[in-house]
This record gives sequence, C-alpha cells and structure tokens, in this order.
Amino acid sequence: MCGIVGYIGKRKDIYPVLIKGLKRLEYRGYDSAGVAIIKDGEIISEKKIGKIKELEKKVGKGIIGGEVGIAHTRWATHGGVTDENAHPHFDCNNKIAIVHNGIIENWQTLKKLLEEEGHKFKTNTDSEILAHLIEKYYKEVKDLAKATRLALKKVIGAYGLLVISLDEPDKLVVARKGSPVAIGIGKAEYIVASDATPILEYTKKVIYLDDEEVAVINHEGYKVVDLENSDKEKKVNNLDWDITMAEKMGYDTFMLKEIFEQPDSITNTFRGRIIPEEGKIKFGGLNISDEELKGVKRIIISACGTAYYACLIGEYIIENLTEIPTEVEYASEFRYKKPVINGDCLFIAVTQSGETTDTLFALREAKNLGAKTLGICNVVGSSIAREVDGGIYLHSGPEIGVASTKAFTSMIVAQYLFGIYLAELIGKVDTKQTKELIYELQQLPDSVRRILTLSDEIREIAAKYQDNRNFLYLGRGNNFPIALEGALKLKEISYIHAEGYPAAEMKHGPIALIDENMPVVFIATKDKVYEKIMSNMQEVKARKGKIIAVANEGDKEIAKIADDVIYIPKTIDLLNPILTVIPLQLLAYHIAQRKCCDVDKPRNLAKSVTVE
Ligand code: M6R
Repeated sequence: MCGIVGYIGKRKDIYPVLIKGLKRLEYRGYDSAGVAIIKDGEIISEKKIGKIKELEKKVGKGIIGGEVGIAHTRWATHGGVTDENAHPHFDCNNKIAIVHNGIIENWQTLKKLLEEEGHKFKTNTDSEILAHLIEKYYKEVKDLAKATRLALKKVIGAYGLLVISLDEPDKLVVARKGSPVAIGIGKAEYIVASDATPILEYTKKVIYLDDEEVAVINHEGYKVVDLENSDKEKKVNNLDWDITMAEKMGYDTFMLKEIFEQPDSITNTFRGRIIPEEGKIKFGGLNISDEELKGVKRIIISACGTAYYACLIGEYIIENLTEIPTEVEYASEFRYKKPVINGDCLFIAVTQSGETTDTLFALREAKNLGAKTLGICNVVGSSIAREVDGGIYLHSGPEIGVASTKAFTSMIVAQYLFGIYLAELIGKVDTKQTKELIYELQQLPDSVRRILTLSDEIREIAAKYQDNRNFLYLGRGNNFPIALEGALKLKEISYIHAEGYPAAEMKHGPIALIDENMPVVFIATKDKVYEKIMSNMQEVKARKGKIIAVANEGDKEIAKIADDVIYIPKTIDLLNPILTVIPLQLLAYHIAQRKCCDVDKPRNLAKSVTVE
C-alpha cells in the first residue's frame, strides 16, 4: 500500500534519493506518485498518476539541490486515482507539504470545520485534511512540530506522516499511528521510509516510531516525543538485511528470485535453532517460559492470505506433534466473532510483513482477552513483531514480490520448529523422534534445489494451459492448504480463476465443472491418502478433465492417468507441503509470465495490507 520517503541531510541533490526510495517501495503496490522538495525558499512539487517513471518524465531533468524533501506512492482509498489526489498535499498557502499513509476516519467532520474557518481544499482525499489542520495550528503556535502534534490529537485513524514547511525549511517532522515509519540514521543524514528497503543502501541503523510518536529531525539530530511532548527514548536497531537482498540479482523478477532463494531462506529459518546431535530446538526470543508453555491448553494461529494457508499447515504440524487442540482463524474474522480465550490459550500471529492490519488487530484482541502471544514474522521491528510477547523471526530476507513465496515456506518451517520444541517440552516426543524430525528438516534445502531444476519443464507445461480460464486445485490432508495456496498464486499473478478444494469434496459439487476445458492440478504424493487421490483422478479423467499431477519420483502409475506429471522428492508427511508448493509456485509464475502479466506487482494488490 502507500509508501513514504523523506530525506534531510548533507547531500546536495536529494531528488535522486527520494525517487530511488520510491522505487524500492514500488513492490507495496501504488497507483500514483509525487515528490516535494524545499529549495531556495519555495516548495518544488510534482505528482502524477501511473508508475514512478511517469513522475520522472513529468519532472524532466530532475530537481537540483534542495534542503529537505518528501515523496509518496499512493494506493487510492478516498478519492479517485488522479494527479490532483496524489500526494504531497498542501495547506492553503502552499507553505506546508505532507505525505500520508493510512486513513483519517473523521476526515469529513474535520473538513467541514476547516471549510467553515475558510480553508480551501483542492482534493477529495482524507489526507489533505492533515496539511490544513497543521496550518491552522501553526498560525497559533508558530512551531511545526507542535502544530503537527496538536493536529494529530484531533485525528481519528491511522497515519505514517511526513511534514515539511517553508517557515521551518531545515526540518522534517515525522509521525506514526498504525502505519509504520522507520528512520534511518546515516552520517549527517536521515532517510525516513515506510519500511527499511529505501534505507538499506545508506545506513543499517534505524529507529522505529511507535504509535502516537512524533520525531523532529534537523541537520543536528533528531528528537522523539509523544503527542503530549514528553521525550521518548528510542532504541537504535541494526538492520541485518543488505541491499543486494532487495535487488533482482540477474533474475527477471523478484518473484522468480524469491522462489529460487528458498533453499537458502528455509535454511536461514532453522539455522542456529537446531542442535541435531542432541535432537533439540532452541529459540532466542520466545519470551514465554517453559513453565508457561507447559500450561498451554489451546493454540490459536491467525493470519491472512498466504500466511493463513501456512497456518493451516502449522495446525496440522503442531496438533500432530503436541496433541494440543489447535485452531486456525482468519485474522479479519477472529476479532469480530467474540472469541473465547483465557490464560491457557496461546495465540500465534503469522505474518511476513508484520504490518497486516487485520492480523495486528486480531493479536490485540487476543492480548486483551488474556492470551499469551507469539509472532512468526519476517520483518524485524515491524508492528506485530513489537507487540507480541515473544516470537520467531523467519529470517527469509526481504520479500519484494507481492505474491508471497519464500515467506510461506519459512512460515511452515518456523511452526515445525515450534511444534517440535513444544512437543519435546511436554513429553510427546522423545529424543530419537526429535533427532529424526530435525534430520528430515535438514534434507529439505537439497530437495527444494532439485525441484527448482524442473523450472523449464514446468514452463512447458504452463504453455499448454495458459489459455484456460479456470483451474481446480485438489489435495488432501496437509496438502489441502497447498491446493488453496496453489490456486491463490495463480489467481493473484495471472488473473485466471482458480479454486482449491479438499480432493474428496470434488464429488460434492465442483465435479459439475469438469470437462475438457478444466485443468485439475492434483497434489498426489505417496502418503496415506494416495489411493484415494488416485480414485479422484479417475473421476476427473472419466469426465475428460485435464490432469496436472505433483507426484513423488518413481511413481509410474500416475503417468498413466495424468496428462502432465511433475515429479518431486519424497519427505516425511509433516514436511511434504514445503516440497509440493514449489512446483505450484513455478506453474503460476510461468503461466503469468507467458501471459505477460506483471508478476511482481499484480493489479489491485498491495504487498502489505494496512487497511481493514
Ligand atoms: O504480510 P502478511 O504475511 O501478513 O500478508 C498477508 C497477506 O496479505 C499475503 O499473504 C497475501 O495474501 C499475499 N499477496 C499472498 O501472495
């Protein structure tokens, strides 16, 4: 969703820093972009719908020089996609410029009040309110930071906000509530952004603002206060990502790079957390004592989208290993359903970005009701990572492609590690078993590597089916969530309609859809339901459906029924989804590529969904 970038510091030209920063945030999804720089006593600003390169064209040769600047990519919520509605927004006199992420819920009330006081609005966005409110208070207090604080006290909603003003041209004011802001601390320069990716190439030192905090940055340094102007001590964090991780490194797209990174990202999730010779798992930051964990009687795992499907697999793993009743809830549904929770309950929020609003609010609800909370999260220092009692970072590196791939497999690994840890703690598995479970985990990266060598073969299969308008994905047990995930990947990036079902459910309805135009993707590895899946395949074949099967190496029977087979190595049941999902990621990818879709930035989607 929207991205913000701000710069104040020693550089002579700050426009390239802002534009580069916006490009690093492109992956979040946007429909227009804009920039404002204070230079020689005026604010130079341009905004344009479309891609950042459209903005660059409009700016022409660039903006030379400047003292402080802000920039924005907008993902429209209030007000259509127009140049006018793009950020930055200005006050009546074009002296104050703001960029804003989030939604101001009481904007209509505030707008009416401000109009009655004579303010003239140029757009129909909620964000423009902020520029006018700050203007109103600036007239009274003649202090940009104070005027911003006073304005924010009137606002209901969420904001990641940057403010600059001609009256205080050596200052950048930054504020946050519900929408993340990171401040990179460089050598005599500060780069502010909605996440760390634009900051990485300048500095590894960052502070993260908390809700209702305001930072005032000038050339001498920074100060953080709350809305009441009380000083806030901020911890300086060291980013452990480097800039190459946020670049394509020779791949055509970020998504393909991230699919191919999985042998490493999977390893990074378990690295340092397994002691194979002792059959032990160790975590650094669970922050829940073994005694407390022993008292857990029920586990709720919650997330959205692909992360939700990873939770369904987590449920299977954790329940299987620990025998503790485990449920999975859509985060968006959980918070509105009057959940029954008590102190015996462990709530696990699973999220790549750590910023998904629905997941964050579900977590807060669970916390309020007394659950202990854990986060399984990729982005260090993100909102969810900071609000949980403890957690497990994925360490998968930045995931830029909007369609989640490597974070998904790491989420399964993290839940597997947690399941083994808890099962061992409560005596449900012995050392011999934990050693075996850890051994199988260690084999995964090589198996994934082998599957990735099938990419060209899968590309050929994609060519045969790319023109179909509907797909069915069928799996059973812990491969049912993989059917859901395979279908979601295809929908997201190729805009082909696809549905995932438990294979046995087909005969209860979806079978009506089967004909020669319906490709059915079966996940048919050799597990305890293999024979049943083979019967489902016969049912599809009998109705002239086309079958693409993901099967285990050496399975000759399946080739007799399926039109196309993708053979993958075998692993234990609990880990099988990590291997079965890789061909489905590649199938979706190649179909979308052949259809010339923008796989990294699919239409209408945002990487980090920070609205309800
Ligand atoms: O950052 P999160 O893991 O919390 O994001 C959750 C979903 O928005 C995300 O998985 C979404 O479904 C992806 N586009 C899937 O590819």
